[in-house]
Amino acid sequence: MIQSGRFNALAKWEMLCRFWADQNSVTDPCAGRFNEPVFPRWQDDAIAGGKAAIREYLRANFPELPLPPRRHLQAHKAFIHRDDTVDGEILRLAKEDDQLADKIVLEMIPGIKEKNYPASFVTEPSPQALRLIQQVFKAGAIEYLRWTEDAGEIPSIHELRCHAAAFPIEAVQGQRKALCLFCALFLGRSDVIHVYDASPEHVTLVDRLSDPLEEMKLIYPSSWEYVCSDYSEALRMATTRQLSYDLVVADQPEPIAKEVAWDCLPMIMNLCTDSFITNYFVEMFTDLGVACDDLSGLSQAVTLRTGVEVVFTQTMKRSDAVYWVVIRRK
Ligand SMILES: C[S@@+](CC[C@H](N)C(=O)[O-])C[C@H]1O[C@@H](n2cnc3c(N)ncnc32)[C@H](O)[C@@H]1O
Repeated sequence: MIQSGRFNALAKWEMLCRFWADQNSVTDPCAGRFNEPVFPRWQDDAIAGGKAAIREYLRANFPELPLPPRRHLQAHKAFIHRDDTVDGEILRLAKEDDQLADKIVLEMIPGIKEKNYPASFVTEPSPQALRLIQQVFKAGAIEYLRWTEDAGEIPSIHELRCHAAAFPIEAVQGQRKALCLFCALFLGRSDVIHVYDASPEHVTLVDRLSDPLEEMKLIYPSSWEYVCSDYSEALRMATTRQLSYDLVVADQPEPIAKEVAWDCLPMIMNLCTDSFITNYFVEMFTDLGVACDDLSGLSQAVTLRTGVEVVFTQTMKRSDAVYWVVIRRK
């Protein structure tokens, strides 16, 4: 954590535990950036961190298990190979039950039953195994609770990584000069953190919000450029100055998704020498009349619509509503 808010991770965990035990025993401190209640988000983060830590513990101890993609965590490491007998039992439990991490949620938070977490283990774990899994869960939960976007909190790079989501990371590898538009609201946890991890030589960040951009200056390299501007103005300036970027990333909001992805495509591809990564909302695939995984269909439809000869090289689901797409000039 670069700067803490009102509560540290352990205090958040303690308050959540009291809340889970008796919802009336503790009042939500409303410590969010907009003075909003924080318990719902703390709970989501604690559960996400706890489950991630269990999966990382299983991955580290038992590489043979099929598991979802790796998350960045340290918490589980203290528990790896601590007790061979208990480890062996947990491997057996995990092999027969791919919902082990979910089932621990119910063990930790009995009151959460209404959220449809699967009940009852296939085989009941021994008290020792259950205790170890619960400890791993708690450690992961506390690691995730370090940054919950409360007022005043500025996360470290590691904490941002923990909260990062799906991104087409192959497309950013080896890119030297990057432009990230619409990057600031969540301090770049959706996109900029992945660009940072690819170690480019130079990055320009553009957003019209000055406060989070100022906070990003404390997180990312001081050699990067932080531009507080409307994106269209930033694109015009870059065009006038004849700048070019290997990589352009745009995480634009839905109301201007088509404007950025289609109307601005000629200008963006003029600045972009390699890859353009941007948001496509589901409605945009419908508008084009092309399925989200039909790369050649998308290439043809967008070339026809924008007049820019492009090739789609990847689409990646971010949520039910939106995909990342990777576009290159033909
Ligand atoms: C979905 S958020 C992006 C979050 C960001 N990628 C992250 O991971 O933190 C959209 C961002 O677009 C910015 N934005 C919206 N309209 C803009 C515009 N016309 N020019 C510049 N930035 C804009 C908002 O300030 C917000 O930071």
